[in-house]
Amino acid sequence: MAKIYAVIGTKGGTGKTSTTVNLGSILADMGKSVLLIDTDFAQALSKYFNIPFPANAGLTQLITRADPAGCISQTGFPRLDIILNDDSLGDKGGPVLSFLRQSSSHMIYLSLALQKLAEAYDYMFIDTQGASGLVQEAAILAADELISPVVPNYLDSTEFITGTVGLLRKLLPAPGMKTTIAGKPLAPCNVVINKMGRTRDAKNVVDHLRKEFDEAGDGLVRVLNTVIPDLAVYNKAAGASEAAHHFEPARPTYSPSAKETMVNLAYELQPKLTGTEPAWEV
Ligand SMILES: Nc1ncnc2c1ncn2[C@@H]1O[C@H](COP(=O)(O)OP(=O)(O)O)[C@@H](O)[C@H]1O
Ligand SMILES: [Mg+2]
Repeated sequence: MAKIYAVIGTKGGTGKTSTTVNLGSILADMGKSVLLIDTDFAQALSKYFNIPFPANAGLTQLITRADPAGCISQTGFPRLDIILNDDSLGDKGGPVLSFLRQSSSHMIYLSLALQKLAEAYDYMFIDTQGASGLVQEAAILAADELISPVVPNYLDSTEFITGTVGLLRKLLPAPGMKTTIAGKPLAPCNVVINKMGRTRDAKNVVDHLRKEFDEAGDGLVRVLNTVIPDLAVYNKAAGASEAAHHFEPARPTYSPSAKETMVNLAYELQPKLTGTEPAWEV
């Protein structure tokens, strides 16, 4: 039974696509079968890998027909598959958004489509655009859990508290109901601090976020202990169409390597994996 994560946030550039790739890749290297789904019309995830033979169909068919058949492409890495975003018009009148606009039942087609793949994968990661909108909402409704990378500065953390959390509250089940229109509880949100620097300001922002959500304790948001440092390897790996931990498995002297960080992130999200070592061909 696949566990479905949506990687979300109402801001661009926080690391949603990087987290999708790096976390998906470390889980695949731990022997799990993983599906990445690109719902961002900017198609950054679709362009991340070099895919010589893409499937004939992609996100458009997945959402508008709730049918995953023929939509899955191979990334070239073992156990790591991808559904490409083939809707290049996107919010300028593309088929996906026109479809979702029709009614609230249309909003759960993505969820229905992914349920059909639940036995084929261990984990799914839905990458989303960094702005609130119907596609991001459909992804949240389809998910079992959410991951929201937050960069520890004042503007990004404020945008998380008002924008992302505001969006989640909007999607909560109606009063007296336990489930959303997708028939399951609203997915809880795991905040992962990304691009952590060594300044006092960054530390203050992280402390503030931890206080705000760990003490509020309404179960909607938790701030993970694992923190992703600000490291050139994440950007360099993207340029090489590689997972960060493949690109630089060695530990820099001043902070954990990408491998250590991604392993810890995987263990924290899925404690049952603790002790599972990733392995890959070089
Ligand atoms: N931990 C990190 N350290 C340094 N650069 C990062 C880190 N995470 C992401 N980046 C870089 O930041 C930019 C935005 O990341 P991306 O994953 O595309 O964000 P999003 O999908 O939220 O828009 C990219 O150039 C990426 O390589
Ligand atoms: Mg992105």
